[in-house]
Amino acid sequence: MNIAIAGAGYVGLASAVVLAHVGHQVVCVDVDEAKIEQLKKGPCPIHEPALPELMAENLSRLTFTTDYAVAYSNTDAIFIAVGTPEKADGSANLSYVFAVAEQIAASVTCDCVVIVKSTVPIGTNEKIEQHLKSHLKHDVTIEVVSNPEFLSQGTAIRDMLYGSRIVVGTESESARQVMANIYENLEQPVVFTDRRSAEMIKYASNDFLALKISYINEIANLCEVLGANVEDVARGMGMDPRIGDKFLRAGIGYGGSCFPKDTKALHWLGNFHDHELKTVKAAIEVNENQKLRLIKKARKYYDSFEGLIVAVLGLTFKPGTDDLREAPSLVNIPIMLDSGAKVKAFDPCGVEKFKRKVSGNIIYCDTPEETLKDADICFILTEWPEVLELQPVHFLTMKRPIILDGRNCYDPGGMEGYPLVYDSIGRTVVSYLD
Ligand code: UGA
Repeated sequence: MNIAIAGAGYVGLASAVVLAHVGHQVVCVDVDEAKIEQLKKGPCPIHEPALPELMAENLSRLTFTTDYAVAYSNTDAIFIAVGTPEKADGSANLSYVFAVAEQIAASVTCDCVVIVKSTVPIGTNEKIEQHLKSHLKHDVTIEVVSNPEFLSQGTAIRDMLYGSRIVVGTESESARQVMANIYENLEQPVVFTDRRSAEMIKYASNDFLALKISYINEIANLCEVLGANVEDVARGMGMDPRIGDKFLRAGIGYGGSCFPKDTKALHWLGNFHDHELKTVKAAIEVNENQKLRLIKKARKYYDSFEGLIVAVLGLTFKPGTDDLREAPSLVNIPIMLDSGAKVKAFDPCGVEKFKRKVSGNIIYCDTPEETLKDADICFILTEWPEVLELQPVHFLTMKRPIILDGRNCYDPGGMEGYPLVYDSIGRTVVSYLD
C-alpha cells in the first residue's frame, strides 16, 4: 500500500520505518526542513535504538519530504503522528493535528483513510473528520480512523513490531478493511472498536500506568517509615496476575512526553465535563511530590546545598533516550543551583539538550566515575547502564559518599560495610559513614 505519515518524531518515524519494513511504500512528511534533510542524508536525528538500522534496511520503500501536497495527493492512507503537547491549563494542544488536517484537505485528490495516531482527547477524531470534510478541495471520500500508539521511547521499534495489541477505532467497514491490510503482516491482536472508545483506550492505558507508578511510590514512601522493602513488596504483589509485575518500580517519579501530559489532559477533560477523575488527580499530585523526594532526603545530611559539590548521575527521563521532557533532573538541578551548589553531571545522551534548558554552575563529565570524584553528595536520577555497572568502591572517591538513589539501582545488601550512606526509595538506609 502507499502510505503517508505526517510527523517525523519518534512515533511517526518508528511507524514509518516499521510499515516500510512490512512491505508498504511509505513517505514521511515533516514541516521541519532541517530534520527532513538530515533524514535524507543521515545520521538519524532521533535517538531511538534499532531505528537507524531498520531505516537503513528499508530505504527502498521509504522517502522523506516537506512537500505535503505531493505526499498526500494520491495515497491509500495518511497517518497523523504529530505532537499534542500540554497547554497551560493542562488540556491538549491540537493545533498541530488540525494544521495537518488542513494540509490533507487541501491536497488529497483520491479517496483515502486518515489515521490518527496522535494522542487526542475523546471526540477529536469526529472533529477532524468534520474539519476535513468541510475543507476538502476535491470531490473525494475521506474516512478518519483512530489508531492510538503504544510505543515507549527507547523500545519503540520492538513495541511496534511485537506490540501487545493494535487498537482501531472505526465504524466503517471499508476503513476497517484498509486497517486490516496495513497491519496484516504484524502478528498482533487487533481490537476493533468505535473511535471514541479507541481514543479513550489510549488515555486510560497511559493514566493507569501512571497511577500504578504513583501508587507504588506512595507505598515505597510508607515502606521507608515502617521498615519494609518496596522491591520485595512489588515482587510479592506482581506475582498476582490480576496485578501484574510491570510498572511497579518505585523511584523518583515518572517523566517523559506522555504520562505527565496525558494524565493532565484526561483530568482536564473530566473536569470540563463536570466529572473529576480523583484517582488521576492523586497520581499527578503524588508524582509532583515524588520528584522532590531526593531533595527532601538530602536535608537529612546537609542543612543547605550552599558550597556543596553535587554529583548527578542521569539527566534524561529514562535510559535509552535523549529526551528530557518532564525529567526529574529539570526540577532537581535548578533547586541545587539556586541554593548555591556546584553540580557535576553525567548523562550519555542528554547533555546537549540539558544545556539548552538549564544554565549555571554545572560541569558535565564523560563518565560516572569522573562525576563522583570529590562530590559531597550524589543524586541518581536515571538508571543508565553506565550507572548500574558502578560498584560501591567507585563512590568512595567522593568527599563524603552519600548516595541518594532515585532509581534503586543497587542492592542495599551490597553496600554493607563500605564507608558510605546509601539512601534509596522505599528501602532501609545503609549507613556506615562517621
Ligand atoms: C509511555 C507508555 O509506556 C507507552 O505505552 C506509550 O505509548 C507512550 O507513553 C506514549 O503515550 O507515547 P514512555 O513515556 O516512552 O512510554 O516511557 P515509559 O517507559 O512508560 O516510562 C515513563 C516514565 O515512567 C519514566 O520516567 C520511567 O522512569 C517511569 N517509570 C516506569 C517508573 O518510574 N516506574 C516504572 O515501573 C515504570
